[in-house]
Amino acid sequence: MTNYKNKRVNEVAVILLDRLASLEDKPSILRAVELKALYAEIPLLPDSEKGLFGKEINALKMHLAELVAAHKDDTEKLPAIDVTAPIDINVQTDKTPRLLSSQFGSQHPLVSEIQYVCEIFYSMGFNVEMSRQIDDDYHMFDSLNFPKDHPARDDYDTFMTTEGFVAPAHTSTMQNRMLKKYKDNLSLKKPIAVMIVDRVFRNEDLDARHEHTFYQAEGVYVDKGVNVGNLLATLKTFLGRYYHQDIEIKTQPSYFPFTEPSFEIALSCPFCKKEGCNICSYSGWIELMGCGLIHPNVLKMAGIDPVEYTGFAWGGGIERLVMMKYDIEDIRYFEAGKLEFLRQFK
Ligand code: DAH
Repeated sequence: MTNYKNKRVNEVAVILLDRLASLEDKPSILRAVELKALYAEIPLLPDSEKGLFGKEINALKMHLAELVAAHKDDTEKLPAIDVTAPIDINVQTDKTPRLLSSQFGSQHPLVSEIQYVCEIFYSMGFNVEMSRQIDDDYHMFDSLNFPKDHPARDDYDTFMTTEGFVAPAHTSTMQNRMLKKYKDNLSLKKPIAVMIVDRVFRNEDLDARHEHTFYQAEGVYVDKGVNVGNLLATLKTFLGRYYHQDIEIKTQPSYFPFTEPSFEIALSCPFCKKEGCNICSYSGWIELMGCGLIHPNVLKMAGIDPVEYTGFAWGGGIERLVMMKYDIEDIRYFEAGKLEFLRQFK
């Protein structure tokens, strides 16, 4: 259908025919900017090419006009429908709603990347669980060893309901539940190995790197004799698989009430291989997530004996991981619903 000799005309034809199929206002295709752009390109061509180029644009426009006209004829023939029907009972063949063709949609990049992250951890023996979008003070703070009125609570400034529920600011809000849920593994001589993923919420000043709503992934692993070496090996293996290359990681000391010791993990910049570039602010390293060995009080509060068992935990934002993978400069694109952005991941 699109066998125009000129490559540009062909390209535009493919785009416009694709768009026409899903367009409600079909005649608007004849005013498409892509078509106008083609006309504007004529004067820039060598004289010998102008003739064919012009002819093919006209042919494309005619073809589109014919399709628009044919569609109009079709719609005039459509039977009357009951627009007040609760679902699409007007479809004669079955009782299911008539849905838009999926041919033009695609999975949101965060959905496919989250799936990929989960698959990697699943293959490493982790169960995958969802967090929740509303929680209480106990899970968000107390069960994570935040003392009452401790200033560390301020780092997790988030939204609260008037009844005192919180929109979780991190997936760590699930740690106590997960430790309790999988505690019996330990007596069966199996580790607790869970990955939690979900949306989290923060009261942030928004900019290219900060969103009020974003996704986090969190890992929790408990067994006898678990140490920092196990934690680092797990994260390094994950990052290497996620970025399809050998990634170096660097730890620096940090503070979280729920881990002791606590670390911040930075990875060697996958773009410049530590040479320095604008993505890593010329440092060669990118800070990615918090982690550490689970604080004995956190294990105790879930009914696990911290003398017998130790564990590690880590947590970090998924958008940041994805932004680095695809060189995305602004976190706000993910929720902006911009089709130009989303279509790149089709
Ligand atoms: N919850 C922390 C945050 O959002 C990240 C984190 C740090 C998670 C250390 C962990 C951990 O599980 O052990 O800032």
